[in-house]
Amino acid sequence: MLSCSVVAQKRTTFQPEKEWPDTEGKHINAHGGGILKKGKVYYWYGENRPDAGGSMNTGISVYTSRDLMNWENRGIALSVSSDTLSPIQAGCIMERPKVVYNRKTGKYVMLFHLELKGQGYAAAQVGFAVADQPEGPFRFLRGLRPNAGLWPVDFSKNDIEEACALDPFRYSNWWTPEWREAVKKGLFLARDLKGGQMSRDMTVYVDEDGTAYHLFSSEENLTLHLAELTEDYLDYTGKYIRIAPGGQNEAPALFKRDGKYWLITSGCTGWAPNEARMYVADSLWGEWKQLPNPFVGENAKKTFNGQSTFILPYKNQGFIFMGDIWNPKSLSSSRYLWLPIQFQKDGTPVIPYREEWTLKDLMK
Ligand code: GAL
Repeated sequence: MLSCSVVAQKRTTFQPEKEWPDTEGKHINAHGGGILKKGKVYYWYGENRPDAGGSMNTGISVYTSRDLMNWENRGIALSVSSDTLSPIQAGCIMERPKVVYNRKTGKYVMLFHLELKGQGYAAAQVGFAVADQPEGPFRFLRGLRPNAGLWPVDFSKNDIEEACALDPFRYSNWWTPEWREAVKKGLFLARDLKGGQMSRDMTVYVDEDGTAYHLFSSEENLTLHLAELTEDYLDYTGKYIRIAPGGQNEAPALFKRDGKYWLITSGCTGWAPNEARMYVADSLWGEWKQLPNPFVGENAKKTFNGQSTFILPYKNQGFIFMGDIWNPKSLSSSRYLWLPIQFQKDGTPVIPYREEWTLKDLMK
């Protein structure tokens, strides 16, 4: 039977920056996202953004695909709540969701950046949700600030004493050299020790041994924290470190290749693009060393107008950089910047721009 619905054409290439219609022909609405693979199916989770405004009235989207180019909209994986007492009530902000599968419990665990309704970006919490199926529905568990009462594992007794001695009132003037020094020493870490550390832009990384880590912008977006999750991925073990104190990193995306951990981040300029940063380490616990911006070519200093969100390993053949090209006037129509990562002989990642590419480009 002939139907009137428009059948979207099958896509055969990735086209960064362009509209990316799903299998029904509608631009994919899954921003700040991440991908989980289960069997042969990829699940793309992301922010389901309204056409105008910054707060959520739907929740976290999920799309599925077998080829990473053609995506079917599977609806809302985690819905905002109509209960006005819920931390995820409609009007809250949910950003940068990442879903991981826990082999021990058989559950799908989602972590996301949560801001409470009517409070702008002040709450700086992480939300936890769980599901029995990758497409959801996810059940919201709680929002919190990580590691209350705990110092980073690499903080010595002396570091703790120094951080505790920093008087926040003395440094009310931001961006001075003294303030920068105090931030590095843990000005905001000490300030937030009791209630837990701020948690905004984030990713989740599962290492080969099944241990999961939450990596997030903390301390007023000035310092990244890498925190180990418990075996069920629903809480923290309390073991955490700071990465690049005072470095102002957002949008962290992490991958491992040939025994090295690579971290790509952005600077902090809100929705506006800036120059990406890259760090490398032999162990997640550091030491993390900064390297030059991996993006090369024209407009590389603005990350081709995009911002990192996730790095997807594709079979054993390569890695896909996933980013967002934000449109703050209409977040739902923000575009995507997916690019194949290339590697220099010494293993250093390089990301040139491509107008159009296919998965075969990963093998080169
Ligand atoms: C960006 C961040 C986004 C969002 C935005 C709000 O810096 O990466 O996820 O939080 O700020 O202005």
